[in-house]
Amino acid sequence: MPAVIDTLRREHANMAKLLRILERHLDTFDASGSPDYDVVAGIVDYLHDWSGQWHHPKEDLVLAKLRLRDPAAADRVGDLERDHQALAEQTVRFREAIAEIVGGEELPRDQVSQMAHGFLNAERRHMAGEEKVFLPAAERALTAEDWAEIAMRVGDPKDPLFGHNVEKRFEALRRDLVELDRAEQEAAGA
Ligand SMILES: [Fe+2]
Ligand SMILES: [Fe+2]
Repeated sequence: MPAVIDTLRREHANMAKLLRILERHLDTFDASGSPDYDVVAGIVDYLHDWSGQWHHPKEDLVLAKLRLRDPAAADRVGDLERDHQALAEQTVRFREAIAEIVGGEELPRDQVSQMAHGFLNAERRHMAGEEKVFLPAAERALTAEDWAEIAMRVGDPKDPLFGHNVEKRFEALRRDLVELDRAEQEAAGA
């Protein structure tokens, strides 16, 4: 499998974990409890900074190549750039709402819940579409030279959460990730 595809799939798996953690905190919020906002803010920051600046642009490069190699397949994928832009805007709005809550503003709970569920669903729907249609089509159509060119253009940025050095702002989230892995491994082995 081309390394770029491998990386994209691994990033999807990582993002899916973040969304499962977000869902757990959202359950707490929906049950009138108080979620860990450090963790929630970490998830939204990561998706904004890392996914927005590295993951999505990488996919945009892959789609540009797919348009050259197999235009019909690219048409079936649809307008990923537009989706990425819409997701980026949704992420910014959600991030602002979290910052307001952390800053002490009382936002209507149902409005926050609706926004969070909308965010969660949009992220999941987007990734599922990419896994089902986009990545397999790209894997079939792109040449080794295409993959080498994309790999060269994206470089090797250091992931601030799933890499070796975890940024301070993601420490609470990293603890939740370790806990999620432990719980899921336990459930799988049970
Ligand atoms: Fe994407
Ligand atoms: Fe993606």
